[in-house]
Amino acid sequence: MLSIENLRVVYHDVISVLNGISVTVSEGEILIIIGANGAGKTTLLRSVAGMIDFYDGDIIDGDIKINDESIKGLDATDIMKRFGLTYVIEDRPVFWYLTIEENLGAASFSRWDKQVKTDMENVYGLFPVLGKLRHRKAGYASGGEQQMLAIGMALMTKPKMLLLDEPSLGLAPLITEELFSIIGRLNRTGITIVLVEQNAHAALDIGTRGYVMETGRIVLDGNARELLENEDVREFYLGSGKKERKSYKDAKRYKRRKRWL
Ligand SMILES: Nc1ncnc2c1ncn2[C@@H]1O[C@H](COP(=O)(O)OP(=O)(O)OP(=O)(O)O)[C@@H](O)[C@H]1O
Ligand SMILES: [Mg+2]
Repeated sequence: MLSIENLRVVYHDVISVLNGISVTVSEGEILIIIGANGAGKTTLLRSVAGMIDFYDGDIIDGDIKINDESIKGLDATDIMKRFGLTYVIEDRPVFWYLTIEENLGAASFSRWDKQVKTDMENVYGLFPVLGKLRHRKAGYASGGEQQMLAIGMALMTKPKMLLLDEPSLGLAPLITEELFSIIGRLNRTGITIVLVEQNAHAALDIGTRGYVMETGRIVLDGNARELLENEDVREFYLGSGKKERKSYKDAKRYKRRKRWL
């Protein structure tokens, strides 16, 4: 469905952040991308969503395709409308001074059909707390409620694929669990999900496959179960195991893999 091929991205013409990334996403899956701060995860999502130029970034090599058609260079609204790909950026992008319902309305800006009300009700069905608070200003909502609203707003665009950037950031474990179980439900309704997360354990638990990124490269990939059981992933991202290696790159498995490549 989505294929990212040898993607290279620089910011401000000089800061090289993605150094040849290749990722494929199949229809219907929940793909997880994990990696340390600064690895380039957000940059990858920005590039796919057609937003990299807003951040003074450029794709200097490689390609991004949806169903074999290149989307490189298209703008974000085009990608959303033509390919059904919607990106929920980091930091809970909601309008603080609008009510929850007005936020959902604002997110339907690209649609002219009469289904908006029905779709809002569906969002409330999925996130009952949003239904309860529909007339409350979004600025008063908790972090978890704002994240649910951000995803609800994305759903108002009727996406085929959702890119989610660290939705669990700053949320309590119980709320994260609830959120991830809803993401699982969304996926079962047919929406393909790309989930970038620091919360590797919870993410890999609901994911089908995953990639590990480090400094602009993919250093490991596999199905979610394999990654959860991988000794190096456990050490660096799940906080277990011996702590003597400072970076994923020190891992002997990584070195061995690099030799194969
Ligand atoms: N607009 C920008 N201009 C210049 N450099 C940037 C810009 N945005 C990001 N960077 C740099 O690119 C690198 C990758 O950033 P990015 O936000 O993609 O990483 P990330 O993996 O999402 O990190 P985090 O887990 O902290 O969100 C970082 O070194 C960051 O400082
Ligand atoms: Mg990020």
